[in-house]
Amino acid sequence: MGLKGIVSRRRIAEAKMTRDEDVLKSRLDPSRLPRHVAVIMDGNGRWALKRGFPRTVGHQKGVDSLREVVRLSAELNIPVLSAYAFSTENWRRPPEEITFLMDLFVDYAGKESEELKRNGVKVRVIGRVEGLSPHVSEAIRMLEETTRGGRVLVLNLAVNYGARWEIVDAVKAITEKVWSGKLKPEDIDETVVSDHLYTSGLPDPDLLIRPAGEFRLSNFLLWQLAYTEFYVTPVLWPDFGRVEFLQALVHYQRRERRYGGLKRGL
Ligand code: FPP
Repeated sequence: MGLKGIVSRRRIAEAKMTRDEDVLKSRLDPSRLPRHVAVIMDGNGRWALKRGFPRTVGHQKGVDSLREVVRLSAELNIPVLSAYAFSTENWRRPPEEITFLMDLFVDYAGKESEELKRNGVKVRVIGRVEGLSPHVSEAIRMLEETTRGGRVLVLNLAVNYGARWEIVDAVKAITEKVWSGKLKPEDIDETVVSDHLYTSGLPDPDLLIRPAGEFRLSNFLLWQLAYTEFYVTPVLWPDFGRVEFLQALVHYQRRERRYGGLKRGL
C-alpha cells in the first residue's frame, strides 16, 4: 500500500474511533501511559472566526480545553504535561491580542491556582519570563508558589518560550561553567545539555499532540522532541477535550517505539 493509502486508512480509523470515555479508558494500558505529554494549543483563532467571533474568544475557549486536559492528566497519573501558551514569535501578533493573551494568563493564574493545588499539580513556567511585564511575572510567581507542593503532575506552561532561545540559554550557562572551571569541555554530553534546558530534571515528551492539523513544530521543545511520537489531529484546540485526549493516548499506545533500532522480530 502507498503512503496515500496508509494515511487514508489511518484517517478512517481515527474517524471511527469511539467517543465513549469509558470504552476509551478501558482500551488504555495504565502501565504504558506516556510519562510526558506535550501539546501545541493551536486553532483558537480559526475556531472563533468560523463562528463569527473575534479570535480572542477562541483563546478563552482554549483555556477550558487546557483545564480538561490538565484534570485528565492528573486523574490518569501522567507525570508531566507541557503546554505551549505563548511563543517568542507570538510578539508579532497585533498588540490587542498580545495584551489579551497576557491578561488571560493572569486571570488563569488567579482563578485556577487553588484547583491545581488541590489536584496535586505543580506548575512550572518555562520560557524567558524575565522579559514579561510585572503583573504577568507576579502571576507566574504566585502560581508557582501556590502549587509548589504538587506531587501528581508537573504542568509546564511555556510562556514567552522559544526552543532556539532555550538552547542558546543552555549554551550560555554551560559556557560560563567551562570558563569558571566548574565543567570540563570533554565532560559535555547530551545529559549536560538536557540538564541546562528549562525542562531540566524532567523526562522528554513521549507524545506530542498537535491540533488544528498543522504538521510543524513551531519552535517548541526542539531538543526534547527528538524521539517523541507525534499525534496530529484536525480538531481545533477549543474543541479538544477529554475524549480527544483519550483518543490520542489510545493511538500512542498502538505505536511501536524503536528509538532508531529495528522492528521487533526483524
Ligand atoms: C495558537 O492558536 C494559540 C495561541 C497563540 C495561544 C494559546 C493560548 C491559550 C490556549 C490560552 C492561554 C493559556 C493560558 C495558560 C492561560 P492561534 O491563535 O494561532 O489559532 P489559529 O492558528 O487558528 O489562528
